Amino acid sequence: MQNNNIWSHRWTFILAAVGSAVGLGNLWKFPYITGEYGGGAFVLVYLVTIALIGVPVFMAESLLGRKSRKSPVDGVTKLAKENGATPLWGGVGIMGAFTGVLILSFYSVIAGWAIHYFIRFATGALVGIDADAAGAELGNLFASPVNLTIYHTLFMAATMFIIGLGVHKGLERGVNVLLPLLFVMLIVVAIYAGINGDFGAAASFLFSFELSKLSLEGWLAALGHAFFTLSLGMGSIFVYGSYMSSESSLAKTAVTVAVLDTVVALIAGLAIFSLIFGNGLEASQGPGLLFVSLPLAFAEMPGSAFFGAFFMALVLFAALSSSISILEPIVAFFVSKGVNRVLTTLVVGLFVWLVGMLTVFSFNVLAGFTPIGEWTMFDIFDKLTSNVTLPLGGVLLSLFAAWVLTKETLVAQIPNDTVRMIWIALARFVAPLGVTFVMLKALSVPMLWALVAAVAFVALVSVVQVKAGAARQA
Ligand code: PFF
Repeated sequence: MQNNNIWSHRWTFILAAVGSAVGLGNLWKFPYITGEYGGGAFVLVYLVTIALIGVPVFMAESLLGRKSRKSPVDGVTKLAKENGATPLWGGVGIMGAFTGVLILSFYSVIAGWAIHYFIRFATGALVGIDADAAGAELGNLFASPVNLTIYHTLFMAATMFIIGLGVHKGLERGVNVLLPLLFVMLIVVAIYAGINGDFGAAASFLFSFELSKLSLEGWLAALGHAFFTLSLGMGSIFVYGSYMSSESSLAKTAVTVAVLDTVVALIAGLAIFSLIFGNGLEASQGPGLLFVSLPLAFAEMPGSAFFGAFFMALVLFAALSSSISILEPIVAFFVSKGVNRVLTTLVVGLFVWLVGMLTVFSFNVLAGFTPIGEWTMFDIFDKLTSNVTLPLGGVLLSLFAAWVLTKETLVAQIPNDTVRMIWIALARFVAPLGVTFVMLKALSVPMLWALVAAVAFVALVSVVQVKAGAARQA
């Protein structure tokens, strides 16, 4: 990380952070898990988590990045040493890197589906399609490991290209134009979906809050998704914060990003469920939900091939501005250790690609391979990261920022007294207790094992890393 590389304007950081936050999480994941966990109650837990836990953790992460001006592992280790705490805190950054590998591995496969739909829209293959044909389209895609692999490879290559050459600044400027465009297109799609589908049913599905209807797993998924959608807990916002100017307000920034991100998810949800209910489809059909419903939105639209392809291009762009933020902290870690950027990107990218093949196969040849409960490898990667390591990482970072840093540092970073007091209360108590509450509430057997294994692994790696550091210094 370079110190001279500070974004001059607060808006630039917000755009980069929104680029990271708004992605497949909002358009693909939020609707499908909301459908799986039954709607309103899930949405309520998600919204409360964003406000009471997501925003303070976002502030903690960007604060730590801005204070240390380093990549997550080095930044936390440095701040720990400066403040007389154990350098083992750096382990949170290492857990973040592992989490990033797993997230990016499946993220790239799903983004690959959008490449497929882009092509299919552009060639006019989806014009006038009905619900049955839309289901068959998705079924055929899932059944072809070869096609899925090609798309996954294309998306990973694009992500690696941008990170390898360090050219993401250009992409972040693109966020300026393309994300507002995505927003406008999303509203158009939502209006269309509302007219052609069942808007009333969608709204009552999303906003009829009955907590008693929420399963234990649903609680955890809603909490985990709040972290996933805001890119928290693995270092993305930390890295972006390390470029943030010292003057801008952490609180305003965090709230702005959280509001934009949430609005995008809710509009996407309204659009998709209008189509789903209007066409008599299942809300709980899983990861294919977005891709089954979108062709139906465009089927009746004039110029459907063009608009469908255009919309998919915007989805892909949103995915790319998120995927680079997942890869960057991992690459930044190795670059800070003196390894060449291009080489690091190639090696890490290849590894992520390989892990991604397990997700490719989860939808066809390995669909029956469910090592934990009914979870395929894709489900395991998704749940282990969103529901375990992201919340854990986020809470540890927030505990670190709020308990370990000195009062002077906190005053300098959050000058407004009232805002700082509220943040300290949320970061020290509400976020950790909230996450602990939901984790304990939801502790099913496979979750417990995943949690123990993840924590043990990270502890081990951290000890090794600290020992190696001490040996190097001796
Ligand atoms: N927030 C992104 C999305 O909603 O699509 C995904 C993501 C990016 C998760 C960066 C985690 C992360 F660190």
